[in-house]
Amino acid sequence: SAARVENPVRSAFVVVSNRLPVDRVTEPDGSVRWRTSPGGLVTAMEPVVRDLGCVWVGWPGSIDEELEPFAVGAMRLRPVALSAKDFAEYYEGCSNDTFWPLYHDVISPPGYHREWWDRYVAVNRRFAEAAAEAAEPGATVWVHDYQLQLVPAMLRELRPDLVIAFFLHIPFPAHGLFGQLPWRRQVLEGIIGADVVGFQRVADAANFRSAVRRYVGAPSNGNRILVGDAPDGSGGPERHVLAQEFPISIDAAEFAALAASESVQRRAREIRAELGDPKRVILGVDRLDYTKGIRHRLKAFSELLQDGEIDPAEVTLVQVASPSRERVEAYQHLRDEIEVTVGRINGDFGTIGHSPVVYLHRGYPREEMAALYLAADVLAVTALRDGMNLVAKEYAACRFDERGALVLSEFAGAADELRRAVLVNPHDINGLKAGIGAALRMPEAEQRQRMRAMRKVVFRNDVARWSSDFLRSVEGAAAQRILAEAP
Ligand code: ADP
Ligand code: F6P
Repeated sequence: SAARVENPVRSAFVVVSNRLPVDRVTEPDGSVRWRTSPGGLVTAMEPVVRDLGCVWVGWPGSIDEELEPFAVGAMRLRPVALSAKDFAEYYEGCSNDTFWPLYHDVISPPGYHREWWDRYVAVNRRFAEAAAEAAEPGATVWVHDYQLQLVPAMLRELRPDLVIAFFLHIPFPAHGLFGQLPWRRQVLEGIIGADVVGFQRVADAANFRSAVRRYVGAPSNGNRILVGDAPDGSGGPERHVLAQEFPISIDAAEFAALAASESVQRRAREIRAELGDPKRVILGVDRLDYTKGIRHRLKAFSELLQDGEIDPAEVTLVQVASPSRERVEAYQHLRDEIEVTVGRINGDFGTIGHSPVVYLHRGYPREEMAALYLAADVLAVTALRDGMNLVAKEYAACRFDERGALVLSEFAGAADELRRAVLVNPHDINGLKAGIGAALRMPEAEQRQRMRAMRKVVFRNDVARWSSDFLRSVEGAAAQRILAEAP
């Protein structure tokens, strides 16, 4: 529940992201409630700040609403308002119709519109100003994701005393793609305003350093980018920026405890019964996004039914797709396509009492997600490109029974760590069909072996480790700066 706090709010640790961890929802009857925001960023950061406490600067998810700061647990939230035009041009436009598709290998063509960009710059400035106001002298400010790439440099200019960190939750593309961006130099200069820049995968960090070399002319030495010229004329850089991979994760113990609870286990049995006790359940869990490869998954599933490899009476595919960015055209097309395909599969292969695909277009509470993970024999993650994919890690964390098989796209960051998944290339429909088939037929002993190995990785590399690795690097950067600035 939300509590009032004094205004202005200040902290020695400030988190900045486009969305606050909670969204303000106005119900049809006019009442207001707060709901956990969608996406992996919040799943990962919520347990981190729950322990550390912070001021979190972000958008409350409503339009044209100036809200006072408020508190949720140990977090104090500082809302940044967006107007209808900001929402259309900064959020839907530049963030989700330019950067999102460009950084996900142009799966959908990015739009380059100068008015979107101008609005992106203006809104980034608003976030930078709010963060500057919330930061105590010498504070650490941690800026997140592709919506706020200009904030680090803007913040450095406003507040040179701050230690600034930036984490990109999505992939950073190869320069052949990144080079399309009309504002590529400004974006890179924005990000290298930070002292530490974190990425999901080794390749993302390498792509970034090479883009900075190419378009800003700043060389790197290992993971360190050498920015500017030292004022003493020594020929050295003005400062270093660490640009390195820090693969994000989840609170594995929390998911495991949830899954082990009696009520979640009961719910998992209930789910299977409600589905008509099929022999096998395949599960997909995604925001309804074209990067997630839901169409490829449905295509492979329908061909397996067509080929007679899967008996529709025995196998059910449950696809949970939470609504996302619903006014962006590419998302509307995707939704239409998926819903037509689901209808076609159920029309062709269903019976009066049974549909092979159960499609749910909504978000669920975490307990229900854990029950779904427990109820599923196979989790299918078929992203065409994904920074990490926390759903894959959540599945492994929940399977304390060491059962279940994970089909995982090589194009998701999670594939770097979860090597014992059934790894697939989702563009190769025959390969995907073979992967799903192998997962469905996987003997129990092999499931156990693979799941045990994957759980070990997810528990070892959990979100506490991610944040402490990242923040230790940030502290290191701060200490180096103090040394460098000492007379
Ligand atoms: P992204 O950040 O692109 O959305 P991730 O897989 O990294 O992808 O994170 C998604 C997060 O949102 C996970 O924590 C997952 O459990 C949650 N999630 C996704 N779909 C749903 C849904 N339909 N209902 C509830 N939670 C969902
Ligand atoms: O990187 C994950 C992420 O893209 C976040 O940046 C974002 O907030 C979330 O998923 C959900 O998307 P949106 O905020 O557009 O609903």
